[in-house]
Amino acid sequence: MSEKNRYLQIIKNQRASKTKEKFEGTLLEYIELIETDPEINVHAHKRLYDAIVEHGISSMDPSDPRKHKLFNDDAIKIYDYFQDEFYGMEGVLSKLMRYLRSASLKGEESRQVLLLMGPVGAGKSALTEHIKSALEGKSYFYLENDPQRGEPLQLIPRSLREKFEEMLNTTIEGDISPIARHLLLEEYSGEYEKFKVTETTFSQRARRGIASVPPMDANSQDVSVLIGSEDISKLDKYSEDDPRSLSLNGAFNVGNRGIVELVEVFKNEIEFLHTIITATQEKRVPSPGKHDMIYFDGVILAHCNESEWNRFQSEHTNEAILDRIVKVDVPYVLELEQEIRIYEKILSRSNFDIHIAPHTLRVASMFSILSRLQESQKCDLLTKMKIYNGEEVVEKGRVKKIDINDLKDEAPREGMKGISTRFIMKAIDNALSDSEKNFITPVGMMDSLIRQVKEQIVDNDFVNRCLELIRNTVRNEYLRMLETEIAKAFITAYEEQAQSVFENYLDNAEAFTTKAKLKDKVTKEERTPDEQFMRAIEGAIGVSSSGRDGFRADVTAYMFSKMRRGEVVDYTSYEPLKEAIETYLITSVKDLARIVTKSKTRDDEQRQKYSNMVQTLMDDYGYTPESAEEILVFASNNLWRDS
Ligand SMILES: Nc1ncnc2c1ncn2[C@@H]1O[C@H](COP(=O)(O)OP(=O)(O)O)[C@@H](O)[C@H]1O
Ligand SMILES: [Mg+2]
Repeated sequence: MSEKNRYLQIIKNQRASKTKEKFEGTLLEYIELIETDPEINVHAHKRLYDAIVEHGISSMDPSDPRKHKLFNDDAIKIYDYFQDEFYGMEGVLSKLMRYLRSASLKGEESRQVLLLMGPVGAGKSALTEHIKSALEGKSYFYLENDPQRGEPLQLIPRSLREKFEEMLNTTIEGDISPIARHLLLEEYSGEYEKFKVTETTFSQRARRGIASVPPMDANSQDVSVLIGSEDISKLDKYSEDDPRSLSLNGAFNVGNRGIVELVEVFKNEIEFLHTIITATQEKRVPSPGKHDMIYFDGVILAHCNESEWNRFQSEHTNEAILDRIVKVDVPYVLELEQEIRIYEKILSRSNFDIHIAPHTLRVASMFSILSRLQESQKCDLLTKMKIYNGEEVVEKGRVKKIDINDLKDEAPREGMKGISTRFIMKAIDNALSDSEKNFITPVGMMDSLIRQVKEQIVDNDFVNRCLELIRNTVRNEYLRMLETEIAKAFITAYEEQAQSVFENYLDNAEAFTTKAKLKDKVTKEERTPDEQFMRAIEGAIGVSSSGRDGFRADVTAYMFSKMRRGEVVDYTSYEPLKEAIETYLITSVKDLARIVTKSKTRDDEQRQKYSNMVQTLMDDYGYTPESAEEILVFASNNLWRDS
């Protein structure tokens, strides 16, 4: 096939697949259609709710550690529609869906504006886009040539509605638009059953059922953006009270049956807001010119940031409006692991083709999360970050007992301030594009963050706080991770070694706790538990000699209760023991790691060890030769200072 034909074929196939038969008929035929499927006539909130829920709802998997550690084992619903796009937003999504569900059941919420309020870059716009897309391509029916695209059943006169509602098992609300009324009288001589009904699909681009209103400055603001206008050119042709002179192309015309989005809503004038409120509360909007109010059924979804909200809220003349708003806070993510996923998502959609070394996005995310956290009385900021991330923080051989809910109660507005996702994205982009190299490591990332802080942040105190976070907290934590990683890379078959130390320790600790003897697996000789070995492990995480017995008893009890439940145990099962084993192993190679990494000249054996280690960094940890080199130079300059 020639090239040209090949393309033509693709185009033809697509066209053929698109011509799914669209309904065309009269109101009477439409009524017959409703009879077979009453769900065709649903109000906007229900349509949207159904469109989201049809992708599936599940409960958070009980084995997901986040459920236990972060959500108190509460029943958390997962909405599949948002699952792959939004991370760490379960709280926001559950409030949002609660609103939609209740509105779909025609609760008071169906007459309220849904307002997403939160700091810049918290995902309000992205969330709104995604919600709107749920409708995209779904079909709905309307009166032919009616710019308001009203529900056809509205043609049925009041006196017959009850009967039809009963027969069709549906509800009929609202009235046809002035233009449809005009058509009815002029073209159908009032015989509404003959009125033509058309099927179409929701499409934001084609302005069908989905409308978006950007904020406007006070001068250019014109309510026609919301409700359309009178077309002056048509006023020559039609008289002023002829509805044909109306251009019903405002957001509340276009968005009828679907969604109207109001971007940064409080930047608008109060007159604007009143129109919006009337639309939700009375389900009607004014028409341009001297015509009747026009029926409107749609989800009104607004968003704004906190300062706009505060300003608006503080004016008591706005009370009536406030009363008609359901506000859902959209804070920044405070969970490190979820924050990292955001940047992975954004990067996977960009065209950058550069190697990103391990921990690079983690380092950036640590900074943004830390900048959002408030100091606590109960622990330092880094510990707080780890607890919010569901990690177990070990202190003196025990998992630190800090209740995540206590921390949250201490700081109810947490997540509303701090470094935004966009700030981090810019720093990542800069690091990627400034770099003459084809890779980026945490070292370059930290430099880029520092530059970005100095260039972009105005508030001096905040600049200093940010620099302090990057240069101390983040940097030290990264060095700690790096030291561990390099040491691990020096240990051949690290996992197996850790596992064997674990098994050995567990045998010893069990024998010690039950006052039994150990039997050597090979010689079958009995011997007493190896005190020196156990102390070496315990000492690695600072278990004192007085805490020794307790620690061994804890470990044994923990492991055996897990085994009794049929769970597999390994060296990572119990956080304090895992840390002890890692520290023990890492300490054993620390000197070697230091000497080999730092030394400028290496003997043959050292050279072999070094190149094995670099190979492990590449094969097992995901570095490239260049990025491994960069972090090793950083390590030798900053770790293992000669004391
Ligand atoms: N929790 C999150 N999960 C996934 N992506 C997020 C999250 N928070 C922010 N983002 C991403 O960050 C970027 C900025 O978000 P945006 O919706 O423009 O923020 P806002 O409108 O609140 O200022 C978007 O690409 C968005 O997808
Ligand atoms: Mg936005």
